[in-house]
Amino acid sequence: MTSQSILVTGGAGYIGAHTLVELVASGYTPVVLDDLSRSSMKLMDGVKQLTGKQLSFYQVDCADKTELRRVFGLHPEISAVMHFAAFKSVNESVEKPLLYFRNNIDSLLSLLEVMQEANVNRFVFSSSCTVYGQPDRIPVTEDAPFKRPESPYGATKQMGERILEDAVKAWKELKVVSLRYFNPIGAHPSGVIGELPIGVPNNLAPYITQTAIGKRSRLTVFGSDYNTPDGSCLRDFIHVVDLAVAHVAALSTIDQLPSRFEAFNLGTGVPVSVLELLNTFMRVTGVNVPYEIGPRRPGDIEKVYADPSKSNRALRWRTKLTIEDALRDAWRWEQNLAK
Ligand code: WQD
Repeated sequence: MTSQSILVTGGAGYIGAHTLVELVASGYTPVVLDDLSRSSMKLMDGVKQLTGKQLSFYQVDCADKTELRRVFGLHPEISAVMHFAAFKSVNESVEKPLLYFRNNIDSLLSLLEVMQEANVNRFVFSSSCTVYGQPDRIPVTEDAPFKRPESPYGATKQMGERILEDAVKAWKELKVVSLRYFNPIGAHPSGVIGELPIGVPNNLAPYITQTAIGKRSRLTVFGSDYNTPDGSCLRDFIHVVDLAVAHVAALSTIDQLPSRFEAFNLGTGVPVSVLELLNTFMRVTGVNVPYEIGPRRPGDIEKVYADPSKSNRALRWRTKLTIEDALRDAWRWEQNLAK
């Protein structure tokens, strides 16, 4: 029986590449699209090394319907789409809102239109906990109301989910799973693939590992006067491999879910502060990370972490890896990059 063929947009990116590895391990055949604007073939080379497969790859902008039609025409066997391709920097989106709305929304709309033409009607959407804004109640559940998003990036994810909910109502065959990531960290334990930030990292974990290896002189902790146990923000840091496994679980259960649009929190349910993550990194690696306490970063949520029980139950998935695992794996990857 030929394995199911899955179109993976943004497959050369951080979450996408880790998901390719898990898809192949579960017997799927990914077809990869990426415009390489925020990624490189380095992770695709790593995926080939880990899977032993030369996956079909197309350097395509997901907003380009002509190119999308060409790929779907070359691969009529595609039965589902996993859509990772989007810009995802919170503070870049504040500086360049039009770029974010144009890229993230155009890509989604073009992809859905061509999927409908090709009669491909299973869709896994890369969403984010930013859709909640600052939740009134934490841990946050999927039925929490969407507060006003703190950034254009968060707004594109909220809009994306709204587009998908309305598309499902009108397109009776379409089934959608929207996966709301909390804070992905870490790297594949092989050290062959990991996070490849372009320029100065916005996210905490790569900034820690780049400071540890000496690429950055010191880490700034953005604020220690929050209403939290140690004053720094609380987050839900999830190992990227656990996150990738959740995508395969979503794909394999999409036809058994109660409705044709279902959203899931992908987090550990365990709140960890910025300072705790930093101190855990130093403890597990034995590497000192120089840091200073700076002012709060505009747009930051004070505390957000998941209630993952719906995902645990409906996807029959739960996180297995710890922040210690993630930080060790991230550090191994950073050291390999420096070789
Ligand atoms: C985490 C905490 C910072 C850097 C965003 C997106 C989310 C997801 C992950 C895509 C905050 C603090 C950070 C630094 C610091 N993106 N920090 N010093 O903003 O929680 O989430 O990235 O999947 O959708 O919203 O992640 O890692 O930027 O920040 O103190 O140098 O670390 O203030 O409290 P964030 P982050």
